[in-house]
Amino acid sequence: MQLLMDRIRKDGKIKAGNVLKVDSFLNHQMDIELFKEIGKEFKRRFADVEINKILTIEASGIGIACIVAQYFNVPVVFAKKTQTKNIAGEVYTSRVESYTHGRIYDIIVAKEFLGKGDKVLVIDDFLANGKALEGLTALIKESGAELVGAGIVIEKGFQVGGDIIRSSGIRLESLAIVDSMDEETGTIVFRNEEK
Ligand code: G4P
Repeated sequence: MQLLMDRIRKDGKIKAGNVLKVDSFLNHQMDIELFKEIGKEFKRRFADVEINKILTIEASGIGIACIVAQYFNVPVVFAKKTQTKNIAGEVYTSRVESYTHGRIYDIIVAKEFLGKGDKVLVIDDFLANGKALEGLTALIKESGAELVGAGIVIEKGFQVGGDIIRSSGIRLESLAIVDSMDEETGTIVFRNEEK
């Protein structure tokens, strides 16, 4: 998605440790006009499949998922992150070990909001090592719902997540795939550039 890649080049900031900061338009301040274009693009890419629910993970995924959902006319469910060890009751849970954040957490979704018969599109802002997406995939599997695909705004193509998800047979659509970025020069190379 060229509009997004141009925006990343214009306003993204490359930080040490291959971190791309997009706080000014994606995951702190949010540019809703851009989100609308992102929503239209995901709708275009997943036009051939039936989707009745969007699943994301707190926090940054929620805003994006809500705008995207307007183009699919479906509800959004977000997985909650929790440190609680003994989660009682009617929830699906999965463990996520985030290398990026150096922490382990459980994610939960109430059983009443996900289950057999659901056709789920996962939406998230970043795909790096893919642990968050793996956790969501495990939750969906446990629930008996069907994972139709995953829509990612920015994939860090030089980290392993994309390869793992694609090789597992999941349909993955990433709107901007960063193949490399240089902190010194500010140069970003995208895999899916149109021009
Ligand atoms: P991981 O296995 O290395 O943890 O990678 P994963 O793809 O699961 O991403 C983990 C988290 O790290 C995600 O946030 C993602 O947004 C964030 N992240 C990874 N690389 C970058 C980056 O270069 N820039 C930014 N801004 N974020 C990055 P999360 O767990 O969903 O938490 P939240 O930030 O949404 O609360």
